Amino acid sequence: MPQRSSPGKKDSDLAKLRIAVFASGRGSNLEAILRAIDRGRLDACVCAVISNRATAGALQIASRRRIPAYHLSQKQFPDQESFDAEVLSVLRKHDTNFIALAGYLKKLSPTIVRAYPNRILNIHPALLPAFGGKGMYGHHVHEAVLAYGCKVTGVTVHIVTEEYDAGPPVIQRCVEVRDDDTPETLAARVLRVEHRVYPQALQYFAEGRVRVEGRLVRILPAPEGR
Ligand code: GRF
Repeated sequence: MPQRSSPGKKDSDLAKLRIAVFASGRGSNLEAILRAIDRGRLDACVCAVISNRATAGALQIASRRRIPAYHLSQKQFPDQESFDAEVLSVLRKHDTNFIALAGYLKKLSPTIVRAYPNRILNIHPALLPAFGGKGMYGHHVHEAVLAYGCKVTGVTVHIVTEEYDAGPPVIQRCVEVRDDDTPETLAARVLRVEHRVYPQALQYFAEGRVRVEGRLVRILPAPEGR
């Protein structure tokens, strides 16, 4: 679905969640967010997609839907400051007021994190703080869960802070680990849950129902009639 670009914006568009999605890979969570918007389950728009990898599926998904798509890699810039300045300028250009990391394999710098306090989410395919941190991404997470012999794993959507995978959780959901699971079967079961909970967590923000009290993220009740 083509999305509104900056010129000709209405005030109502500026008030709602304008999400920039950062993704390094295939982009199935981006797709799930877009589908939730299409189906009226998420009151937001994806105003830009940024990837550090030129070949990321997420960039193709964005282009197909005519969402502004950017390949921005630190390697294209002489230093962190100039990279951050470009990222912030892209975010501002699209009136971004929220960031969703969806399989983005780079750590955001403190400059970016501070520009969007409590307005950046990440999704992690395990129950943090277990199986998180450096090197814990993609199949590594599910391999480690199986190697430990866990009976449950899950999904964490959390607020991004300056420390990797350490911000307070917004939603956590358990996923059963079966005796005959392989990293692939487990990843697929976890991914189905990711696709449900990421739009849900974003919708809490869209509805203004999120209160951050230290490490506790409180979700206020939905208004009457919803
Ligand atoms: C997901 O498993 C997510 O939890 C993790 O990276 C993966 C991204 O998958 N952070 P996709 O690109 O959204 O399909």
